[in-house]
Amino acid sequence: MAVAAAHPNIALIKYWGNRDHALRLPSNGSISLTLGGLHTVTRVRFDARLAVDVVRIDRRPATPAEHARVASHLDLVRGLAGLAARAEVTSASDFPVGAGLASSASAFAALTLAATAAAGLDLGRAELSRLARRGSGSACRSIFGGFVEWRLGDDDASSFAEPLDESAAWPLADVIAIVSQSAKPVGSTEGHRLAESSPLQPARVASAPSRLAACRQAILEQDFARLAEVVELDCHLMHAVMQTSSPPLLYWAPASLAVMQAVRAWRAAGDPVCYTLDAGPNVHCVCPASTAGAVAARLRDVAGVVEVLTASAGGPAALLSPDDPRLALL
Ligand code: PMV
Repeated sequence: MAVAAAHPNIALIKYWGNRDHALRLPSNGSISLTLGGLHTVTRVRFDARLAVDVVRIDRRPATPAEHARVASHLDLVRGLAGLAARAEVTSASDFPVGAGLASSASAFAALTLAATAAAGLDLGRAELSRLARRGSGSACRSIFGGFVEWRLGDDDASSFAEPLDESAAWPLADVIAIVSQSAKPVGSTEGHRLAESSPLQPARVASAPSRLAACRQAILEQDFARLAEVVELDCHLMHAVMQTSSPPLLYWAPASLAVMQAVRAWRAAGDPVCYTLDAGPNVHCVCPASTAGAVAARLRDVAGVVEVLTASAGGPAALLSPDDPRLALL
C-alpha cells in the first residue's frame, strides 16, 4: 500500500495534439508552473484477493470511463513490476474537477507515484514522469515542482518532463477565476485527437520552439513583460486551433472573455498580470505572488466570476506517511 499527493499545473506554453495518441507523445514541448495548495491524494493497495480493480474518486465509485483509464494505467505498472494482483484505488482532489484546472495532471502524477511504490518499484523521477505521461500528458509535468519543461523527445523513452527551476526562484502566483464549475463537454484526450483537423495546428506546432525559448528566457530573467506576451500568444494559438477543429471546441464562456479583457486593461495600466486558459472556461491569471491578493479582489468584481482560487508555486509529487493530514481528503 502507498499514498501519494501531487499538485495540478498550469501550462504557460501549451501541449495540444499528439504525434502518437496511444503513447501520448506530444506534437510540441510545453512549460508549466506546478500549483501549490491544490492537491490530489491517491492511495493504492494491491490485493491478490480482488477480482477486479476497485476505483473510488472524490468519495464515489469511478465512472466506467474513469475506471478503464485508471485500470489501464495500473496495467502498465503491473507490467513493469511483474505483478498480477488487482488494486484498490482511492483518490480525491480538493479543487473543482473537470473544469480546466488540469485535474488529470495531479491525478495521474499521484496515481503513478502511489501505484509504483505500492508495487514495490523504486523509479527515478524521469521514469515516473514518462509513466505519468501515459496516463495524461500534462501529468508528466506534475511529478516536479516549480517551473517545469516537458521536452518533446523522440519516442516513449525520451519524452518526459524536467525541472526548469524547481525552487521557483521567481515567486509567481496563479489566481484562477472560476466562471463555471461544471465538467467540460469535450475532455482533452478527445481534444488532442481533434487538433490535427485544424488548418492552424501545423503553424502552431512549427512556431512552438520560439515560444518555448522566449518563455524559458523570461523565467530565467524574471522578465514579466516578456512572459505575459508569450503566455497570452501561446494561449490564443491553442484556442485558435481548438476553435478551428472539426468539430470546433469552444471552451470560452462570456465571463472568460470579460476576465481576459479586464486583465489586458489592468496590464495596459501598468499592473503585471496576464492570463491563460486550458481546455475549459476558467481563466488562470498569472502575476507576482506579492500582488495575488489585489488581483483576486479585482477578479471577484468581474461579472460572471463565481469563485477565485489562488495558488503559488508548489513542490513535486510526494509519497505521504500514514499520519499525513492530507489523507483526510479520502
Ligand atoms: O494532459 P491532458 O491530456 O489533460 O492535456 C492538457 C492540455 C492542456 O491543459 C490544455 C494544456 C497543457 O499543456 O496542460
